[in-house]
Amino acid sequence: MEKQRAGTMILEKDYRIAEIDDRLYGAFVEHLGRAIYGGIYEPSHPTADAAGFREDTAELVRELRVPIVRYPGGNFVSGYNWEDGIGPREERPRRLELAWRTIETNEVGINEFADWAKKVNTELMMAINLGSRGIDAARNLVEYCNHPGGTFYSDLRRSHGYAAPHKFKVWCLGNEMDGHWQIGAKTAYEYGRLAQEAAKVMRLVDPTIELVACGSSGRGMPSFAEWEATVLDLTYDYVDYLSLHTYYGNRDNDTPNFLAKSLDMDQFIQSVIAICDYVKAKRRSSKTIYLSFDEWNVWYHSNDADRAIEPWSIAPPQLEDIYTMEDALLVGSMLITLMRRSDRVKIACLAQLINVIAPIMTETGGRAWRQTIFYPFMHASLYGRGTALLPIIRSDKYDSTEFSDVPYLDAMAVLSRAEDELTIFAVNRDLEQSLEFTCELRGLTGFAVQEHLVLEHPDLKAANTAERPDNVVPHNRGGAVLEEGRVKAKLGKASWNVIRLKRA
Ligand code: AHR
Repeated sequence: MEKQRAGTMILEKDYRIAEIDDRLYGAFVEHLGRAIYGGIYEPSHPTADAAGFREDTAELVRELRVPIVRYPGGNFVSGYNWEDGIGPREERPRRLELAWRTIETNEVGINEFADWAKKVNTELMMAINLGSRGIDAARNLVEYCNHPGGTFYSDLRRSHGYAAPHKFKVWCLGNEMDGHWQIGAKTAYEYGRLAQEAAKVMRLVDPTIELVACGSSGRGMPSFAEWEATVLDLTYDYVDYLSLHTYYGNRDNDTPNFLAKSLDMDQFIQSVIAICDYVKAKRRSSKTIYLSFDEWNVWYHSNDADRAIEPWSIAPPQLEDIYTMEDALLVGSMLITLMRRSDRVKIACLAQLINVIAPIMTETGGRAWRQTIFYPFMHASLYGRGTALLPIIRSDKYDSTEFSDVPYLDAMAVLSRAEDELTIFAVNRDLEQSLEFTCELRGLTGFAVQEHLVLEHPDLKAANTAERPDNVVPHNRGGAVLEEGRVKAKLGKASWNVIRLKRA
């Protein structure tokens, strides 16, 4: 007989973490590889619309209900002249793109991307170039995008066929400016001063915008923490969010350790909250800085292939990770972590969206399909909106190579805004045994189990491909039941679970 572990959760109606900001389920699209060209935009594709956007990928993005998409980079933005991507296409320059060493044709720019964002029902989160450029380009860009008209840049936009301003609300002040790989990388002081001045002029153009300052490009950076403190010291009164980025991999094929990496993400968030609040205390400020986790995912499968790519080609297959079942489990746990920290993390962007470390893959000229990580992301985006409940969880734990006390059961619950739906998200990190799950509902009456979705596969390395797009897909035979105020379910070994309850 198969062995089983046990894990319990208690939910109480009034024990709440926060109202989740829908933007927690955002994504990211960079001018990189085949994200734009061959992913979003491909005029010769059989499904292309009149503007050249692929309808097949647009439909998959709509399935994910992504509320916000960060654009246009990433490392790309630190060398980008936004003016290259506006106006008549035939006049747009081809440029050497130095971040990824390709050729950028500029066929798609801000206006086209804004059109695409409308097509897929999302908002755009714009990033400015604080690498090779500065406050002049930044203020002109805000004027071009957000000012109604009657000035040089707003009238230029109108002359390009966009009478109404785009009204982009959220703006990132550069990208990963601490990274040695970044075009125009800076010290924390250099960046902090520049971000402060950029924020000032951008807000003078449009006082309604929200601004994100760059935190470290990862928790492992030598200047981590010091960077955040210095940057915030300089920008505290000017910005609303501080960014975090993280990517994980399973290079050593140590899956118990890989699945525990969401604990690192949690610790990262906790540390950045502490730094924000340290600066708040130092300044005797009543303002709280929120977090924008605007790049997160698994990224390592494509590293070797990327090293072999010849420079200066157009839209080569860069960063094309093929995701496995175990990647979907970690992505599930990372989503649970973001929900658990939704009191401070208000924006998060899965990096990225199409072809480049993405839930959606395509063949240029051909098929589009859902990668394994598509499913936990979609479930969280569809059913994880509302109030994050504060769960009390008991679970057996294990020690892995880098982490101790890793709970086998990773879980969160979200009550919908109308309080008529309750969704439990749970990962069983145990690779050998299923887990007997019990969740006690206190004050949460009148619910019935609607469905118990499960993503699992006997082979943790199983993936979806163009030929086998449905190799790893969720089923709804999880079998959760509600008996005497307790949700009971057997969570299969190494599984992602979504237990959806509805008020009858
Ligand atoms: O998402 C891929 C890259 O990862 C981004 O361009 C950069 O910001 C990060 O290092």
